[in-house]
Amino acid sequence: MRLQDKVAIITGGANGIGKAACELFLKQGAKVVIADYDQSSGRELENTLKADGKDAMFIQLDVSDGDSVQQMVKGVLEHYGKIDILINNAGTTKDAMLVKMTAEDFDRVIDVNLKGVFNCTQAIVPHMIANGYGKVINTSSVSGVYGNIGQTNYSATKAAVIGMTKTWAKELGRKGINVNAVAPGFTKTAMVEKMPEKVIQHMESIVSLPRLGEVEDIANAYLFLASDESSYITGHVLHVDGGIMM
Ligand code: NAI
Repeated sequence: MRLQDKVAIITGGANGIGKAACELFLKQGAKVVIADYDQSSGRELENTLKADGKDAMFIQLDVSDGDSVQQMVKGVLEHYGKIDILINNAGTTKDAMLVKMTAEDFDRVIDVNLKGVFNCTQAIVPHMIANGYGKVINTSSVSGVYGNIGQTNYSATKAAVIGMTKTWAKELGRKGINVNAVAPGFTKTAMVEKMPEKVIQHMESIVSLPRLGEVEDIANAYLFLASDESSYITGHVLHVDGGIMM
């Protein structure tokens, strides 16, 4: 039980990597808040987990909306009384080549993947400071470090998340808060299924460990950085990508 009685908020927890993280954190003794835009998947997951005797709750939110984030934080504090772990995992794509990308699609990805991480962390960190304890894990991407065709907006946000991670690690270390990032490689979720086959084939060709990532590969990295096994690690970007970045 590496997270016994810890309260963890996992944004984007209703699907894909976030869902795997919810399940893993619960197995390790955490109380888990599934914080997601997708009401039907979130409720379904909450019901399944509760039927299994797990301590999980779903709260619908849009991470890009500051008021929605504040409401979520209020709900968690009313229910659990504290927040120990924040996994900023919610993310979206609206891919297009540079010359075809609309300003609207550029802005939406910035609002969710960058402003959303800011909104959640800024709303939650004061409560972590008051407790003198906290773990913040941000989700970057191989696209933010290596670049990726068709992802001007997405790769910009994922690079920016690394900058925020390092800044917050410096600001919050003295308050007992570790801030790290995980940079997944191509991982088998709905997000990758939307990509053109030739982009996926290219990614498979540059991976040293010859397969795409599984959601559990990323959830395990979140778990390590959320546990006290990583208590002397902060400002780090953990690449979980089968050896693309090294
Ligand atoms: P996914 O599309 O399967 O799940 C994303 C979740 O985020 C969904 O449940 C969705 O409802 C939620 N979400 C989207 N916008 C939201 C909003 N505005 N407010 C609240 N929730 C919102 O994606 P996946 O693959 O599980 O991605 C998880 C994270 O990992 C994302 O940050 C993504 O950018 C990152 N990542 C994924 C990679 C992959 O290959 N799948 C590679 C590198 C990074």
